[in-house]
Amino acid sequence: MSRGEIPAGLALEGAAQVQELRRSFNQMSDSLQTLDAERRLLLAGIAHDVRARLVRLRLNVELSLNELAAARAAAMVNDIEEVNAMLAQFLEFARSEAEEAPQRCDLNAIVARICARYRLSGHDVRSVLGQVGLPELREVAVVRLITNLVDNGLRYGEKEVEVATSRAGAHVVVTVADRGPGIRTVSPDALIKPFAREHAAHGKPGTGLGLAVVDRIARAHGGAVKLMNRPEGGLLVIVTLAAG
Ligand SMILES: Nc1ncnc2c1ncn2[C@@H]1O[C@H](COP(=O)(O)OP(=O)(O)OP(=O)(O)O)[C@@H](O)[C@H]1O
Ligand SMILES: [Mg+2]
Repeated sequence: MSRGEIPAGLALEGAAQVQELRRSFNQMSDSLQTLDAERRLLLAGIAHDVRARLVRLRLNVELSLNELAAARAAAMVNDIEEVNAMLAQFLEFARSEAEEAPQRCDLNAIVARICARYRLSGHDVRSVLGQVGLPELREVAVVRLITNLVDNGLRYGEKEVEVATSRAGAHVVVTVADRGPGIRTVSPDALIKPFAREHAAHGKPGTGLGLAVVDRIARAHGGAVKLMNRPEGGLLVIVTLAAG
């Protein structure tokens, strides 16, 4: 349960007190699952309905370009896009990893593909690929994890970002490093909490959910996230994932 998985109900066997304990545990597990499902549904429902209105709003702004001052129209479109990105992040946060089954995958190929996609859109994102074998991972979730970290590196670091893979025993390690200012005013790991941002992230857009999503995905893989400032400047994020 602590990994966000749903265990099968416990069989009601053993001595009377043990049976009672098992029954209580099953009830607790059921209530937590119901609560979790309702929370997800609520968040997804809100985000979905609001997004539909945003699409319409944006269309209306674009159809009214003749009547609006160009700068004001651009500001409106910009706001709409920001709200849209925030809702995407809320949806991401509400999602459960349990829906995707882990599979053997070529982690290095995944990292190389992500970096190539960033380079195509003009960003300096490099990969350093180590020997990682074919770990058992939830690929969609891992792509989301890496993308969130690279987005941060580009947004706050504003220079090149490096994604590296390696192996440490039963875990694979993915690191994302940038050469920006790092996190100086708070303990870096404090920013993993949902909605935590440093100085409202210096006026840059964002919801503060990216690292919480990264953390949840790492834990769903029996792993963890660690943030540290690099002595030479910039932030280093170390993610470990159980190779399965
Ligand atoms: N590479 C980085 N360099 C410096 N600060 C960072 C870096 N990555 C994250 N941070 C700090 O940690 C905060 C939390 O990051 P997180 O990814 O959770 O949220 P966000 O980027 O603000 O918004 P979102 O990812 O939801 O769009 C950021 O607001 C920023 O202050
Ligand atoms: Mg982010």
